Amino acid sequence: MATYPVNMHVHPEIESFFDPQTNTISYVVMDPGSTSCAVIDSVMDINYAAGRITYEHADEIIAYIEKYTLNLEWLIETHVHADHLSAAPYIQSKLGGKIGIGDQITVVQDTFGKVFNEGTEFQRDGSQFDRLFKDGDTYEIGTMTAFAMHTPGHTPACMVHVIGDAAFVGDTLFMPDGGSARADFPGGDAGQLYDSIQKVLALPDDMRLFMCHDYAPDGRDIMWETTVAEEKAENIHVGHGKSREEFIKFRTARDATLDVPKLILPSLQVNMRAGDMPKTKDGTPMLKVPVNAI
Ligand SMILES: [Fe+2]
Repeated sequence: MATYPVNMHVHPEIESFFDPQTNTISYVVMDPGSTSCAVIDSVMDINYAAGRITYEHADEIIAYIEKYTLNLEWLIETHVHADHLSAAPYIQSKLGGKIGIGDQITVVQDTFGKVFNEGTEFQRDGSQFDRLFKDGDTYEIGTMTAFAMHTPGHTPACMVHVIGDAAFVGDTLFMPDGGSARADFPGGDAGQLYDSIQKVLALPDDMRLFMCHDYAPDGRDIMWETTVAEEKAENIHVGHGKSREEFIKFRTARDATLDVPKLILPSLQVNMRAGDMPKTKDGTPMLKVPVNAI
């Protein structure tokens, strides 16, 4: 395992943007020492039935960054999401910044390039992104040094991004009463997910953890922030020192009962292209529905 440059003395300011359509939380992470910021896991709005794309959620984030005259340096994707579409290229076109994802995106592109019967014009080398992170890679957001931690299991390219005392866990973990994300997508693996979660739980106890999703179990309010200590003590899937075997058994049984995410088909086609729409040969944006392929 890589040695990660944890620095709990850096306290980024964080603004959250909840998307009720997909239960996704996007973040603007701000450097207290400069005007620099990063956006994590943005959302593009889609009315899938109508084939219509809009940008209300992304425009909220853009308005926030403009209001505080921040300098957007990074647009981070914690993974190739299967439940919402990324708005990273739209935000980048307005504010600049580099789009980054884990380097195992190439595995995801290879898998879904086949599922969607993409031709040779679909590059499977991650070149649609500005930066591919390897485990332990660092990058700067103003005066802050952030790092990426490879956390496969939910998908092969999942990365947890740690910025000072804040970690953005993607779909590695949910809030303690939500447990963990599914591990049954192509390339997913419950055992790997357990190991990845242990890497997150090995971060300092008072590390702030920010979720990518929350589904408000038992009707409570939506929540997205917890700590390593709380997850270790209370997480219903991995807390109380639950064993790898117990987790794999539980996760596999649970995943067999879950429905396919409503937006999986458009999400994968767009997100494996760093948020760009697939296009026909004449440049028309067009999504496919592969039959009996997922
Ligand atoms: Fe996900």
